[in-house]
Amino acid sequence: MREQVTVFGAGYVGLVSGVCLASDGWPVRVLDVDAAKLETLRAGRSPFFEPGLDELLRKAISDGMLEFALTSEVESVTGIAIIAVGTPATTTGSADMSYVRSVLEFLEEHATAGSVAMMKSTVPPGTGERYAARLESRGISYVSNPEFLREGSAVTDWFKTDRIVIGATAEALRRASTLYANIDAPVVTCDVTSAEMIKYASNAFLATKISFINEIAVLCDLVGANVDEVSRGIGLDGRIGPAFLRAGIGYGGSCFPKDTRALDFIATLNGYSFDLLRAVIEVNARQRLLPFRALKAHFGSLEGLRIALLGLTFKPDTDDVRESPAGEIASLLHAEGATVVGFNPIPVSFDGLDEVSETLSGAVAGADAAILATEWQEIVRADWPALVTTMSNGAVVFDGRNALQAEDIRGAGGTYIGVGRPSGPSDSTR
Ligand SMILES: NC(=O)c1ccc[n+]([C@@H]2O[C@H](COP(=O)([O-])OP(=O)(O)OC[C@H]3O[C@@H](n4cnc5c(N)ncnc54)[C@H](O)[C@@H]3O)[C@@H](O)[C@H]2O)c1
Repeated sequence: MREQVTVFGAGYVGLVSGVCLASDGWPVRVLDVDAAKLETLRAGRSPFFEPGLDELLRKAISDGMLEFALTSEVESVTGIAIIAVGTPATTTGSADMSYVRSVLEFLEEHATAGSVAMMKSTVPPGTGERYAARLESRGISYVSNPEFLREGSAVTDWFKTDRIVIGATAEALRRASTLYANIDAPVVTCDVTSAEMIKYASNAFLATKISFINEIAVLCDLVGANVDEVSRGIGLDGRIGPAFLRAGIGYGGSCFPKDTRALDFIATLNGYSFDLLRAVIEVNARQRLLPFRALKAHFGSLEGLRIALLGLTFKPDTDDVRESPAGEIASLLHAEGATVVGFNPIPVSFDGLDEVSETLSGAVAGADAAILATEWQEIVRADWPALVTTMSNGAVVFDGRNALQAEDIRGAGGTYIGVGRPSGPSDSTR
């Protein structure tokens, strides 16, 4: 007989966890405080776009393995309670723990003795230590189980993860591990604080790789090297690996920016200056300015220009625009007097956009410049020579993800600007 699983938070992590566990045969109840979200879910639709999620969601509901409720409707929690509520950044950069705290207080009051509180939200190292004693005095075990899934491939990531991290004492560890019995991945078991640190260290390391290659891209520009070739050359080294080595306008999203800032805050709080991490954050902030600077340098003034901003989400295959570089770029361009026309393969919007086009060709037609902000395949694989011929004023294309073919743009009479890529046809022989 499998234990009841209750998931707090029907967001990217909570809903994917709940749906995947229900598909694996666990009786799951997903709770949220947002009634409209729950209504959408009960109708068999995910409130956000995530490939493959809707199908699994509908099947789990019809199999009777998945149900939804408001947290306030729940009187008692037994079995395993997964906490997957948000931990956004506060103005100081620290993690806002108010949602997590409210769930832990709810569990203190409503969870029966013998239940397990399993923390999937990304929380500062030390959080578990702080709360475990209070929960354990009521017979509730505390487990840290940080999540590593990526939006855009979250369902696949759940079933095919690189590793599962569980920080807990022996008995809680055994029960938490059963949730993953059907997943073939190494399980890293450790104490709660180390598990919490693994999550921050992973994200900080990946962010470091991105900022590192972006620094190398600057040097490539200065010495006339091509960062694509440099990335390939270093990425083939098994000690380095090819992932996260594409130069561009930097990382965004709901995790890397907030988690790097939170780790910096944690370091400061503990009297340590994490200089490397600060540099990573600074480099990333600078990268977002590149398209703005390049267009200013090219045109002199942006006043009255029409600029197509392509790919509005922080990465492809998601509808998440939290801390998307495109958002900041749109605001900068708009403030300089440009008309910013956004396009995203899945419709999304945010402040700073003057227009949103339903089609790529509609966004690009008549534009003086186009900026590729996110490498959606629908945009990258489009007929760029044809698109360039519909643009005006020299057709400047800023490739913020080094994903387009420079020759396609130049061959059609446009001006191509990449990040750390050779700046003109004459450079290709260097
Ligand atoms: N999004 C990712 O790709 C990702 C990956 C790994 C880890 N994480 C971490 O997982 C956590 C959740 O992230 P997310 O992106 O899924 O957040 P999200 O904002 O998409 O979802 C959080 C959900 O929690 C709900 N909520 C708030 N208070 C609640 C309560 N008391 N009871 C029930 N539900 C409540 C909110 O209404 C919201 O629907 C964060 O700590 C994040 O850092 C996120």
